[in-house]
Amino acid sequence: MKQQLDTIQVNALAAIAGAEDERSLEEVRITFLGKKGSLTTASAGMKDLPKEEKPAMGQALNEVRQAIQASLEQKRTELQAARDAASVEGLDMTLEGRDLARGGLHPLTEIKEKAVSILRRMGFALAEGPEIETEFHCFDALNTPQDHPARNEKDTFYFDSGKLLRTHTSSVQIRTMEAAKPPVRIIAPGSAYRRDEIDATHLSVFHQLEGLYVDENVTLGDLKGTLEYFLKAMFGDSTEVRFRPHFFPFTEPSFEIDVKLQAKGEEPKWIEVAGCGMVDPAVFSAVSTSRGDQVFESMTGFAFGMGLDRLAMIQWGIKDIRLLIENDVRFLSQFG
Ligand code: DAH
Repeated sequence: MKQQLDTIQVNALAAIAGAEDERSLEEVRITFLGKKGSLTTASAGMKDLPKEEKPAMGQALNEVRQAIQASLEQKRTELQAARDAASVEGLDMTLEGRDLARGGLHPLTEIKEKAVSILRRMGFALAEGPEIETEFHCFDALNTPQDHPARNEKDTFYFDSGKLLRTHTSSVQIRTMEAAKPPVRIIAPGSAYRRDEIDATHLSVFHQLEGLYVDENVTLGDLKGTLEYFLKAMFGDSTEVRFRPHFFPFTEPSFEIDVKLQAKGEEPKWIEVAGCGMVDPAVFSAVSTSRGDQVFESMTGFAFGMGLDRLAMIQWGIKDIRLLIENDVRFLSQFG
């Protein structure tokens, strides 16, 4: 049997040395070490040996197996190295690579995510509503009478059904209160639509972020503190914020908010960034009628709304709002 093993080893090593690629090397392995391979067949002869010869023969068998395995392994490494070398032959590894264009966030997305993340940290949850709205949610429930200019066919996109493209995100205030119980603390970023003449500061599709805070005993102090904190987080700690009395149908009292900002090389000036106010009781009454209960009837709250396109223009000194929708990479590649 010893002789038989020696022959197997010699044949195996010769076959390995002669293998030209990894596939034929694998065939060699099967021929000698496989289930029906010659070494396996030879080792079956062990059981017929006299007991005292078994240990020595077992050891010889192991040595042959190990020698074949080591040789297989070495040959495999050599073949792989040869294949790798062949695959890069003729390639100039010192040539420069090709640059991949890197994407970035659109300035509008960036400003929206910044505003949303600040407000979420302050406890506001995201809310949404349909962009095709009813007159009730867009106007009536927001205390905006039939003869208000915003309801004019010239200013608003109406469908034949009487529905319309929402003119502001304030409709989400109503949608939210119809479906939730107080306290309500939501923000709703989204698109709004107006039949505006398109120019450097107007688009017929633009973006707003609405906020609504409703609870018992909400005060004007809460509104001021919340929005001042928010605007400082948006524009910088030292930003001055001012509330100017204004009128909105759905808030009373109402304000426009200005922040004092300094563009590069210019004097600081007050820039209007948002509208806000204490929720008008007429809004709570409309919500009560729509819900058919009184849970919002004794509530107080504040609301605010701001133009995201405007915020982006202020943040980056963008002079023409149309740049935000023209998809010109020369403009967009400056962001993100
Ligand atoms: N909806 C107003 C607009 O589109 C913005 C606004 C003003 C929203 C005051 C509010 C608010 O929630 O309280 O011009």
